[in-house]
Amino acid sequence: MGRGADDELIRAATRPEAPPLVPELPVRLAADVIEAWAAAERVAGRRLPPPYWAVAWPGSQALARHVLDHRHLVAGRRVLDFAAGSGLAAIAAAVAGAARVLASDLDPLAAAAQRLNAAACGVEVEATTDDLVGLPLEEVDVVLAGDVCYERGPSARIAAWLRDLAARGATVLLADPGRTFAPTEDLEALATYVVPTSRALERRERTPTTVWRVLPVT
Ligand SMILES: C[S@@+](CC[C@H](N)C(=O)[O-])C[C@H]1O[C@@H](n2cnc3c(N)ncnc32)[C@H](O)[C@@H]1O
Repeated sequence: MGRGADDELIRAATRPEAPPLVPELPVRLAADVIEAWAAAERVAGRRLPPPYWAVAWPGSQALARHVLDHRHLVAGRRVLDFAAGSGLAAIAAAVAGAARVLASDLDPLAAAAQRLNAAACGVEVEATTDDLVGLPLEEVDVVLAGDVCYERGPSARIAAWLRDLAARGATVLLADPGRTFAPTEDLEALATYVVPTSRALERRERTPTTVWRVLPVT
């Protein structure tokens, strides 16, 4: 699909909404994810993966809140929002004064959503659909990773890579709402946010989500 078609699909499936923890950054979100998924597939005329990009998951909300309230973490630095979904954390980093922000997500529609959301918030975010896991990313100073530990195999691979990035000197912030496959060791808790969510998504109305700094174990 072309850029215009992607934009049309995202607009059909979502509406501008203020994420509860970061109301100053309205992004395009689904009112109901299943309905948004169906709407996206109707517009695309084909099957699509779940629209993770249409949700501000607890991870990106906690990261966005944290960098907006602790701007020194990203100001003037080169930031990667890994597995960025809507791009909310990337946008927050740009607002907080990052020198450069790259959002990565394997889903091309996430890249389109990030572009639309960044433009609506008045900032620039670059997007890539490359799988960066395993790369040393010497050109990145800070890595934000929100809600990335939801599948066993990928989570182990991602956690090992984040650890390597911390060991080579990057600041690595992992925000996790207690997913089963999240790492539990060599982490420093920076803050815990109670993120309003929905029973449909998280089977509860509030999800405590911790922003961890991944410690550089060598
Ligand atoms: C639960 S969503 C979290 C999105 C966002 N970080 C947030 O907290 O709102 C997980 C995202 O990870 C993306 N993803 C999974 N594996 C990835 C990989 N190896 N590289 C980039 N994105 C990946 C998925 O496409 C999905 O958008």
